[in-house]
Amino acid sequence: MTKIDYKNLINHYAQEVKKLKNNDLLRVIENIDSSNNFLVNKKSKNISQQKLISFACNDYLSLSNHPTLKKSAIKAVEKYGVGARGSRFITGNSSLYPELESQIAKFYNCDDSLVFSSGYACAIGVISSIVSGDDLIVADKLIHSCLIDGAKLSGAKLIRFKHNDIDHCQKILAENRHNFQKCLIITETVFSMDGDVGKIKKLLSLATNFNAILLSDDAHGLGENIISHPIHLQMGTLSKALGGLGGFVAGNKILLEYIRQFARSLKYSTALPPAILASSIEALKLMKKTNLAQKSLKNAQYFCKMMDMPICQSSIVVIIIGNNKRVLEIAEIARKKGFLIAPIRYPTVPKNQSRLRLTFSSAHKKAYIKKLAGILKEII
Ligand SMILES: Cc1ncc(COP(=O)(O)O)c(C=O)c1O
Repeated sequence: MTKIDYKNLINHYAQEVKKLKNNDLLRVIENIDSSNNFLVNKKSKNISQQKLISFACNDYLSLSNHPTLKKSAIKAVEKYGVGARGSRFITGNSSLYPELESQIAKFYNCDDSLVFSSGYACAIGVISSIVSGDDLIVADKLIHSCLIDGAKLSGAKLIRFKHNDIDHCQKILAENRHNFQKCLIITETVFSMDGDVGKIKKLLSLATNFNAILLSDDAHGLGENIISHPIHLQMGTLSKALGGLGGFVAGNKILLEYIRQFARSLKYSTALPPAILASSIEALKLMKKTNLAQKSLKNAQYFCKMMDMPICQSSIVVIIIGNNKRVLEIAEIARKKGFLIAPIRYPTVPKNQSRLRLTFSSAHKKAYIKKLAGILKEII
């Protein structure tokens, strides 16, 4: 390996970024402001201001702008201030935390839950605390990067099974489980970049047979796939369907107490702002008493019908394009016609599997969905 000297260091980084650009893999962080539930304004060099209908947000229940949530956030700011002032273990544990955690535990039909500052922090904290160097992680090939980062951070041996392939998972466990102390199986309830659902029940039965713990990430789920079991840890986020920020894990109280003691991303990070905790409490209440989740799924299914595509399993619909340049072009055409859709490329998805990822919300109007389907049918 050639050593990069000081003189060439900056040049090296510049070349790496240039390579991304040459391969249509450069990411641009744009300014996008939400003006109401699902319209966003965008200001960039070429477009001064454009109203776009977003099919690219994870705000599935359209709660991020809900008046009740906003009111509760404002009330919390007025009562408690803006920031949390410290880690949950020192000065940051607002009394809103236990209220939110008991609601999450109830929602997932579990003993207990633990809220982290983000889904990412939750994934790396949970995984790296419950398994380590002498342990085995068996994970679905398509799990989210935060779960992979958690697995790497843990130091456990990581083996991936083919996506949703229970036989392959079983084979890996049969061949390897006996060589390790503890074992963790990881999957998602709804796969973030594919929109299909994980096989939670079957994996839980494998976990039982092989003395493993199952961790399923419900970040893009809406709590439909709830299975309460002592060896099942259910992870999720407050940042998507619940419209706010934060991550959580729910499960058996002994496991949860262990995670509370050992998850470094919980201990060594500032707590969430009170406003976020207060609005999350309201979001959970709303989610329980409304049928918003059904609405967002129905909207996604209506789009599939309009596109003559197989009916989707979740509020995420994916159209594989393959070529990086082409996926960017299609998203740009849609944007010019007033729709924001996300072009997803490597390394978020495997090479040559670039795709359009469309997310549907309970607030989307059928007329817009129909219009977008018409545009995409014409382009693709
Ligand atoms: C499946 C999955 N898990 C976890 C996360 C991380 O959650 P957060 O955005 O709250 O950090 C994401 C984020 O996109 C995700 O898609």
